[in-house]
Amino acid sequence: MSPRKIIIDTDPGQDDAVAILLALASPKEIDVLGITCVAGNVPLALTSKNALMICELAGHTDVPVFAGCDRPLGRELVTAEHVHGETGLNGPTLPDPYMQLQDQHAVDFIIETLRAAAPKSITLCPLGPLTNIATALQRAPEIAEAVDEIVLMGGAYFEVGNITPTAEFNIYVDPQAADIVFKSGISIVVMSLDVTHKALVTPPRNEAFRALGTPVGKAVSEMTDFFERFDKEKYGSEGAPLHDPCVTAYLVDPTLFKGRHINVEIETQSELTMGMTVADWWGVTDRPANALFIKDIDADGFFTLLTERLSRL
Ligand code: BDR
Ligand code: CA
Repeated sequence: MSPRKIIIDTDPGQDDAVAILLALASPKEIDVLGITCVAGNVPLALTSKNALMICELAGHTDVPVFAGCDRPLGRELVTAEHVHGETGLNGPTLPDPYMQLQDQHAVDFIIETLRAAAPKSITLCPLGPLTNIATALQRAPEIAEAVDEIVLMGGAYFEVGNITPTAEFNIYVDPQAADIVFKSGISIVVMSLDVTHKALVTPPRNEAFRALGTPVGKAVSEMTDFFERFDKEKYGSEGAPLHDPCVTAYLVDPTLFKGRHINVEIETQSELTMGMTVADWWGVTDRPANALFIKDIDADGFFTLLTERLSRL
């Protein structure tokens, strides 16, 4: 089978970085057409710079990287330096990038690529707020036809929220954008906090990254070490959740994950519950299913896959 053609839409972020590295290490399964950056964990100038640094770390300087929207559709930008550090990629010391961003805006790249593509031939992989994707869908609704699937990290049902008591960060930052995406009619796979909070970098898993003895292995272990401090303190967990790599791991081996086809709607009105993913897990409404909502993961299988793939870079 030929590799799935994907666009990674991202706000790196240490976990975004690992997701990108996993994709770039898996050319038999994944063909990365481009990386589009959005404001999220840190402002756009930093997420774009971080994406370039990650491509260089991976040795994939041929991947085009685009800067996109610098703020959500209708709200002030909320960032997460308290989790990811001032640069968004605190932990390892990586050199400033020599790669350049493409001149084209990320949204124009998404529209142009999808307009030129066959029906259902491209997978979109959003790892941050959905601003770029929603803007592209608003400006050129016909591009939806070219999308095979959107596999995204965002939302929660059982875990409820991480940035507010009821909302997950990516959805909370741009709820209007999320609403547009979830109403788009495109097939959606949701890597919710319910699954990503089971993908924990325990000390032995972190040690396995370091033991690769490569610049990538060292950088990943330092990134997850940094990220870990916050989550360990907050949740008392054994390690940091690798949220975004669940998206790219799903593309390589979907059998690692389990979920249900359900209806998911986004709260866009109430300040109290803004950005909540109202997920009908128990099927108590007759609202039609619009997403495969992932809740469970074979965590050992996931870390075995991830470590083996990182060893290839
Ligand atoms: C999501 O928010 C960001 O902080 C992470 O990169 C991930 O995409 C988790 O809620
Ligand atoms: Ca992210």
